[in-house]
Amino acid sequence: MRSKQQPNTSHIPFNRPTITGYEQQMMNDLYQNPGYFRDRHFHKLCGELLKTWYRNSNIFLTTSCTHALELAVELLQLQKDDEVILPSFTYVSTANAVVNCGARPVFVDIDPASFNMDLSLLQDAITDRTKAIIPVHYSGISCDIDRMRKIIRNDIPIIEDAAHSFLAEHHDQKLGTMGELGCISFDYTKNVSCGHGGMLLVNDSSCLAQAEIAYEIGTDKAKFLRGEKDFFEWAGAGSKYALSELNAAHLYAQLQWAQDITQKRLEAWHYYLNNLSPIAEEHNLQLQNIEATFHYIPLHNSTYGQQTGRFIHHRGQDNTQNISQRMIRLPLFHGITREEQDRVIESIKSFYTK
Ligand SMILES: Cc1ncc(COP(=O)(O)O)c(C=O)c1O
Repeated sequence: MRSKQQPNTSHIPFNRPTITGYEQQMMNDLYQNPGYFRDRHFHKLCGELLKTWYRNSNIFLTTSCTHALELAVELLQLQKDDEVILPSFTYVSTANAVVNCGARPVFVDIDPASFNMDLSLLQDAITDRTKAIIPVHYSGISCDIDRMRKIIRNDIPIIEDAAHSFLAEHHDQKLGTMGELGCISFDYTKNVSCGHGGMLLVNDSSCLAQAEIAYEIGTDKAKFLRGEKDFFEWAGAGSKYALSELNAAHLYAQLQWAQDITQKRLEAWHYYLNNLSPIAEEHNLQLQNIEATFHYIPLHNSTYGQQTGRFIHHRGQDNTQNISQRMIRLPLFHGITREEQDRVIESIKSFYTK
């Protein structure tokens, strides 16, 4: 007698970190060659590989994108009451990089079509205290940096928060390479990761000397390592921003598969799109044993956001709040199976047909 097949109700997580299977090999290589810690062996290998994609940028691997943003903002040497413009729909790291330097965040509402900063509000956000702008490329969708440049003064640098945008492009330009500075995340929630990690892209060479010092805990060690000096010494402000060699070994395994990882994730995204776009509407969706999550809580409405910054929006509109209340993020990760995706799709469809 054939038994009736039970439906699979096992838990589907929102995210499962990418593991390629090569990470262990890289870690073993590191343990067998302890000198690699001193020589920054994997750090260098990651840098060389990254350089093939980010050709014109100076690359600084950091402990996180949070730290890359802090390093970027540190280079601006902000003063109290200086202002930095950013979208309200972003992670706290973008805003903390600003307030940690004693400056004020100016939150701009988002465009509901892209979830990126609404550039029609940008002019209203600029004052004579504006010292920088940090656009966020939400989920790898590019902000219009060319249009932004036309609106802002020449002396306002752009720091791209490209946390979600590793390898993403706009008109053949990698996101993170169009501003003076760009920041990318290799957190375990991202496509390519090393647990916690990130990178700062220095695209404007006038920032390079100071970035090198800040990155090396405020020393001129970069010159020493290049053989330009016999010793290194304290040369300015800085912190221990550099990614550890352990994380770099893990990252190197993933970078070698980065394009494949990105492609697989894109395929999974298309599968959802094809199957769900016919029924996309506004509903309070509850899915059975499937982790689907909200995203950012608007910074301008948070307790600290209200104390530190101000919000620029069109009269009577708050797209950031509106989108934040309505959006749902579905499980989407490198190893997600078609069966898992089908269960997500079926749960959504059955919700709509109830
Ligand atoms: C827009 C944005 N910026 C910065 C960060 C911080 O990245 P990390 O977790 O690598 O510090 C995140 C985290 O996801 C983010 O969403």
